Amino acid sequence: MRKTFIAGNWKMFKTRAEAVGFARELVKNMAGREKEEGEVAVETAVCVPFLHLESLRAIFDGTDIKVGAQNVHFEDEGAFTGEISVPMLEELNIGCCIIGHSERRTYFGEKDEDVNKKLHRILKSSMIPIVCVGETLEQREAGEEKKLIREQISVCLSELEQEDFKRTVIAYEPIWAIGTGRSASNEQAQDMCSMIRREIRAMFGSAAADSVRIQYGGSVKPENASDILNMPDIDGALVGGASLEVENFMKIVNYK
Ligand code: PGA
Repeated sequence: MRKTFIAGNWKMFKTRAEAVGFARELVKNMAGREKEEGEVAVETAVCVPFLHLESLRAIFDGTDIKVGAQNVHFEDEGAFTGEISVPMLEELNIGCCIIGHSERRTYFGEKDEDVNKKLHRILKSSMIPIVCVGETLEQREAGEEKKLIREQISVCLSELEQEDFKRTVIAYEPIWAIGTGRSASNEQAQDMCSMIRREIRAMFGSAAADSVRIQYGGSVKPENASDILNMPDIDGALVGGASLEVENFMKIVNYK
């Protein structure tokens, strides 16, 4: 059974004071929820700017809420101004890390090959990697979305072992749905996530395909979360805008 994984992606939003306020409120909300349900059926994380990782880690101590980063370098150290490494994140007990987000690809020139190097480095740590893939509107309109995602998958996941899929999370995020308010339909999201799982089955075997968790991302909000998350090949969500308010984020976590 794959446990549903809801991760917030704050991008470059919230000052430290705002982040701390959010985290304290989230802890209160999650504590209430755990009591009601008796167990945490959904895994949750918030992926925040580097600067807030340590403060949030401290606030979430003793809870099941993970703190995640939004990017990382593949080298452990070196002359890479402005970058952060996996050992630096591990020292703070960071639970997960987004890699290959379309905004990193579009504005900072990240390539599938970089994502693959980052993924291999993260897999040597205890963190959960969230590998983002997704097509542009032009690629979808040209009917090329499946070909493109297959290519992204094959390069980003190159040379992984079957075991690695117990931890690796894929986030299918069509670029035309990110921050636009226009989510993919349940069928479109399911269709692409099931294709990704088929590809992984063909490349790495059934154990890998059955254990890998695939999130959908792109305008997930309280109103559409339940429909999307109940699709058979969708095991979670990567949530941007709607993760910035505790109330919205909690409604998504409580999608059932
Ligand atoms: P959105 O962002 O939910 O605001 O569309 C999703 C993402 O970029 O991960």
